[in-house]
Amino acid sequence: MTEATETRPGLDRDASRSVLAEAARRRTFAIISHPDAGKTTLTEKFLLYGGAIAEAGAVKARDGRRRATSDWMALEQQRGISITSTVLQFTYRDHVVNLLDTPGHRDFSEDTYRVLTAVDAAVMVLDMAKGIEPQTLKLFEVCRAEHVPILTFVNKADRPGRDPLELLDDIEARIGVRPTPVTWPVGEPGALRGVLDRRDGTFVRFVRSVHGATEAAEEVVGPDQAAAEEGPAWREATEACALLDEVGADLDVKTFLAGESSPLFVGSALTNFGVRHLLDAVVDLAPPPAPRLDAAGRPRPLEAPFAGFVFKMQANMDPAHRDHVAFVRVCSGRFARGMVTTHGTTGKPFATKYAAALFGAERTTIDEAFPGDVVGLVNASELRIGDTLHAGDPVTFPPIVSFAPELFVTARNVDTSRAKQFRRGLEQLEREGVIQVLVDPRGDPTPLLGAVGPMQFDVAAHRLANEFGATVVLEPTALRDARLTDASTADVLVGEPGVRVVRRRDGALLALFESRFRRERLASEHPGWRLDPVVGDGGPGANLGS
Ligand code: G4P
Repeated sequence: MTEATETRPGLDRDASRSVLAEAARRRTFAIISHPDAGKTTLTEKFLLYGGAIAEAGAVKARDGRRRATSDWMALEQQRGISITSTVLQFTYRDHVVNLLDTPGHRDFSEDTYRVLTAVDAAVMVLDMAKGIEPQTLKLFEVCRAEHVPILTFVNKADRPGRDPLELLDDIEARIGVRPTPVTWPVGEPGALRGVLDRRDGTFVRFVRSVHGATEAAEEVVGPDQAAAEEGPAWREATEACALLDEVGADLDVKTFLAGESSPLFVGSALTNFGVRHLLDAVVDLAPPPAPRLDAAGRPRPLEAPFAGFVFKMQANMDPAHRDHVAFVRVCSGRFARGMVTTHGTTGKPFATKYAAALFGAERTTIDEAFPGDVVGLVNASELRIGDTLHAGDPVTFPPIVSFAPELFVTARNVDTSRAKQFRRGLEQLEREGVIQVLVDPRGDPTPLLGAVGPMQFDVAAHRLANEFGATVVLEPTALRDARLTDASTADVLVGEPGVRVVRRRDGALLALFESRFRRERLASEHPGWRLDPVVGDGGPGANLGS
């Protein structure tokens, strides 16, 4: 939050104040988890507690009769997962909460990473029985690299799970973030009695709500009553908490905001237990939007004229309207629908006549937005991921770094009469950041597609067929490792077995190897060759991923 109370020259004092006040009410975060840990369930419960839905059961329709709120692609429905990111907005305790959904599939995808560039905090959901899982680990790394503060929710505490002290050790050892439990389970794993709230020592009894469709009743009792009623279970919990006190595992806002510690809550999303604690923590602990640094490292004041950046592109979300939606995170100022902004990359005016708030598959037109909010700009085909839009003083936010692709397939168009559609489809998918299209500089017409997670290829093939009528066959390759190279190195690499040279959209040449080991050997044998780490095609920045 900015402490600035002065207004900027030329800006109306009241307008500035209102932008600052609106920004201070915003909490923009994402839920990240390994599939099955309970992200969908928790999302739905947040909406229930935020009053956005009257009864749980709407987000992920179990029987397929009700339309799922965050499922809009046929593929999502087939697989029962959420691939596209949605933005859900609701109010809670007079705060505007923006919950950005992240793809929930097993493979890490760049889409999730980009969502994390647009949030101010993240809620990490862990399954109490499983703890840290592979996907969780990668997402934590991304949060750390982006300095995103993380709240941890240990879910499924109603079921048998791991010893919670062991879980804490595991979190700290594997991700290097110190968990600081705010609530602690009372009762053996599998026989949950409730939680001890370490902030005031009270006992919150676990009451099962009927299927968790409505808010859980909350019964809070003092420590003496808890000791009398819960006996050994309470004693064990207080002993564990004394241990936590001793090691200093206490809530520490400063280290939380720095991404070094993570306030931890225990609960059960299915039965709504602990959901309110967590949502209160989102409002009370997660930071409001802060001035975002521009490409030169200067903060853009929140009350400066409107500026935002595109973190996601999505085409054809609505099959009835072949449209492109650019999701823009507002960083400063007041966004007003219809305002003419400047597209930072081209310097051209960009009109925002069609601005929408997207709630799952439903769209409503929005008239204004403030820092922390996400605006969906419809018919935004000229925008790209990472682009800045601004009004007033120009600003360019740093480009969104893309990952070095780690998997490559050849994409063969089955029906040559659909060559144009095939090409157009690939261009579109690349623009949206679904896959990278890599072409042979020597003229082989079959492109290679590059991605970080295999699911990205499935999405590409599905969309090429469904949206562009181009059926493709994707053939796996043994290539695994990409390096930036130059024309002279490319010339000598062409003769090397197990190596391919391709050209990226921005013209850069990439050398692809079957293994890192092979590449390292070639590099040590030929120190003059240029084989540099791949940085995102957007420009400078760390290369997360390699
Ligand atoms: P995800 O989005 O992270 O993939 O997870 P999701 O919420 O879909 O939850 C995965 C499974 O875990 C679901 O069961 C869900 O009901 C269950 N679950 C979520 N939270 C809790 C909890 O607190 N306690 C218990 N016991 N279970 C929980 P499912 O059998 O796969 O689906 P369904 O038939 O219940 O929909």
